[in-house]
Amino acid sequence: MTEKIALEDLPGVGPATAEKLKEAGFTTIEAVAVASPSELVAAAEIGESTAAKIINSSRQSADVGGFETGDMVLERRKSIQKLTTGSDEFNRLLGGGVETQSITEFYGEFGSGKTQVAHQLAVNTQLPVEHHGLNGSVVIIDTENTFRPERIAHMVEGAAEKLELELETEEFLKRIHVAHAYNSNHQILLVDATSKLAEELKSTEYPVRLLIVDSLTAHFRAEYVGRGTLADRQQKLNKHMHDLMRFSGLNNASVVVTNQVMSKPDAFFGDPTKPIGGHIVGHTSTFRIYLRKSKGEKRIARLVDSPNLPEGEAIFSVTTGGLTD
Ligand code: GTP
Ligand code: MG
Repeated sequence: MTEKIALEDLPGVGPATAEKLKEAGFTTIEAVAVASPSELVAAAEIGESTAAKIINSSRQSADVGGFETGDMVLERRKSIQKLTTGSDEFNRLLGGGVETQSITEFYGEFGSGKTQVAHQLAVNTQLPVEHHGLNGSVVIIDTENTFRPERIAHMVEGAAEKLELELETEEFLKRIHVAHAYNSNHQILLVDATSKLAEELKSTEYPVRLLIVDSLTAHFRAEYVGRGTLADRQQKLNKHMHDLMRFSGLNNASVVVTNQVMSKPDAFFGDPTKPIGGHIVGHTSTFRIYLRKSKGEKRIARLVDSPNLPEGEAIFSVTTGGLTD
């Protein structure tokens, strides 16, 4: 254990700045290490470049990061699989489908289809690999009570028809493990519970291959209101995202999270098409997809951020039988 470093010990942080940071909730260097420059600018009335320097030095002191050699990364990436969305257009946008060993974030307004996509992926994950499934079980961390087994039943029927397979709705429902998260702390703890369940199911016919968190940010948004709580919220979200990332790597699983967009424009966050959670969620999600409503059943998916795919859009439909072109 290294010696505890105080905010005041960071280069560029005088007593007055340290005081302002603490008032805004940035009480430790770990909190500063995972902050964005603009957050510090707003909290401490300092310039962008000073903020960036403070963040950099806090990262070094807090030892945020770690190494893995390129060959290790390559070996790990060889086992990545792609999960079908049910729409060829949508799959193409994603470079084949929703990847394992990644976090894929779907964000958009209410009714844009986030929960529908989540339900569809919960069905598709259970399909055999030759039908672009993952031959696996599913865990859903449901924070808003929007999981509907009836919807799963429709989608299983839809898939059976489309793929000309005999599929048992009952079996599909049995392989979906739903946990209701009562608050953000409970939500974070449920990832540990999911890891335990995944351990139990690891050597069975259907190991856990998909973890859904729907919605990722709703509890955080409701619980952490006010400027002084921002750093605390971001730190918790950051930990949560890293737990999810670790889960996806350890289980070669897809992690799918949903996120709302800002609805109340205010001085700091004016753009109503921006997802909640700021840069913490944005930088930890491997793929970000912005969903919006179009005519009737049509939905537009926009790939906003990806490490190796071009930005672009796809149009798909949400029908009673599920997602389709
Ligand atoms: P919030 O969670 O409120 O932010 O919204 P969301 O993005 O999760 O929206 P959701 O996925 O719940 O989308 C709801 C929409 O999906 C409805 O308004 C319908 O358009 C569509 N939908 C839901 N069920 C069915 C169905 O059985 N058949 C068809 N055709 N469409 C459905
Ligand atoms: Mg929803």
